[in-house]
Amino acid sequence: MNAATLHQLPPQLTARGPNLALDGHDLGRMATEHGSPLFVFSGRKLAGNARALLAAARAGHPRARIFYASKACSNLHVLKIIRAEGLSIEVNSGGEMWKARAAGFKPAEIVFNGVAKSVAELELAIGLGIQAINVDSAFELSRIAEVATRLGKVATIALRIVPGIGGGATAGIQTGSERSKFGMGQAELREALDIARSHTSVLDVAGMHLHIGSQVLDLPDFLESVSFTARQAREIAGHLGKPLKHLNLGGGYPINYVHRRQGANAGRDFDLSAFAAAQPAAGMMEAVSRAAARELGPSPEIFFEPGRSMVADCALLLTRVENMKRRGATPWLFLDAGYNLLLDSAAVRWYYHMLNASRMDAPADADFRVVGPLCDSADCFFDVEGEYLWEAIEAKLSGLAGVTPEVLAELKAKTVRLPETRALPAATAPGDLVALLDTGAYSLEEMFQYCGRQRAKAVMIAADDSIVTLRERDRPEDLVDAAERMGMGAAI
Ligand SMILES: Cc1ncc(COP(=O)(O)O)c(C=O)c1O
Repeated sequence: MNAATLHQLPPQLTARGPNLALDGHDLGRMATEHGSPLFVFSGRKLAGNARALLAAARAGHPRARIFYASKACSNLHVLKIIRAEGLSIEVNSGGEMWKARAAGFKPAEIVFNGVAKSVAELELAIGLGIQAINVDSAFELSRIAEVATRLGKVATIALRIVPGIGGGATAGIQTGSERSKFGMGQAELREALDIARSHTSVLDVAGMHLHIGSQVLDLPDFLESVSFTARQAREIAGHLGKPLKHLNLGGGYPINYVHRRQGANAGRDFDLSAFAAAQPAAGMMEAVSRAAARELGPSPEIFFEPGRSMVADCALLLTRVENMKRRGATPWLFLDAGYNLLLDSAAVRWYYHMLNASRMDAPADADFRVVGPLCDSADCFFDVEGEYLWEAIEAKLSGLAGVTPEVLAELKAKTVRLPETRALPAATAPGDLVALLDTGAYSLEEMFQYCGRQRAKAVMIAADDSIVTLRERDRPEDLVDAAERMGMGAAI
């Protein structure tokens, strides 16, 4: 596809002559000043998202609370902004709990998820007296009872249950069925309730929890999870002889990753551009919250755990074109950022929209294959695996009875997850700055140093227009750890 397209940019992104600007700050200048690759966050957008999501949750249910899923981005500067907006926090490890505390969250503002919580992590959570430990198995519940008994404390818990609802854009982020590793099915729940009933002096079953997946595109999946919660909470209350105080509906609210005016070539999983509201996640959350008020009643608190929808569209990654070549008719561009900085691009073939941030005045009228700097073929922003796989599937299926063009098209969409090429201005060349949009979630903490690559610097344009460093770029000496350094003696 080679259409001359303009980009449908969100309001925080504008063109200043040839350069892209975020919150009015020229990104070409920022890359010159801070180097590349560089994550740039908008503090205004982050605070705006926090306010919008909280308002949406409260519009539906007055006792709604948001526990931001800090796995999406647990940089302390980010956490502090979220806390300042009145939100609470979801953590997934002792490390995230430590960061939450460092950012100033109080124990009553923390819920703790996880499938393999250690005794030390449980001691920390129970000792602090956090809002709730979301219990993942009957075994874990007996471990919690043991720890609480030893500490002489009461552990406040919620039971994480699998509702059998398959939301989420890829298999790796579908978490609502018994095929996934999360939570308890019905048989295990009965076991857990028996344990709870026999340890009432140390276990306070305050709530139930579910989370059906990430980038869940269909509101009916969320609504079904509310109905499931209503049925399940009544049943649990019956077993325990008391109502639950809170019902945690998890996260998974989606964002739009596609910013082309026409002919978007990314798959449905990423495309919410047709959604009327600027913030589809807030619209969906309000609808879910209203359904919760209707079906669950006004007394229990309702918890939400959004991660991606809070931070993804608050940041972009600036990366420099370092090299180019041509294979046949197709030009290839080589960036200084690969999956070492955006793990999901390789792990789950995630789509990130791409702009030439130094040629905003030129139409994106040429198709390029775009790859990263790492030494394996998976390091690319197109669908290397899917394309090969699709050729083999198509060769087997074509011509078979019942395999209509529609069936083939659907299978291809499922197999080839990313576009083959990205549309950029024809003159794009080494030295140009490329922006990968919506890279604020599941990025900073997933960076690594493969191929001796330094993890990127990240800055934030604060609400007062000052530039805050969220994290420095690794120094060359950060590529070796203390033990390696000792062995090298004076050489380093
Ligand atoms: C239990 C739980 N809650 C919330 C989230 C956040 O999901 P999202 O970032 O899609 O909102 C996750 C993500 O993995 C999760 O596992």
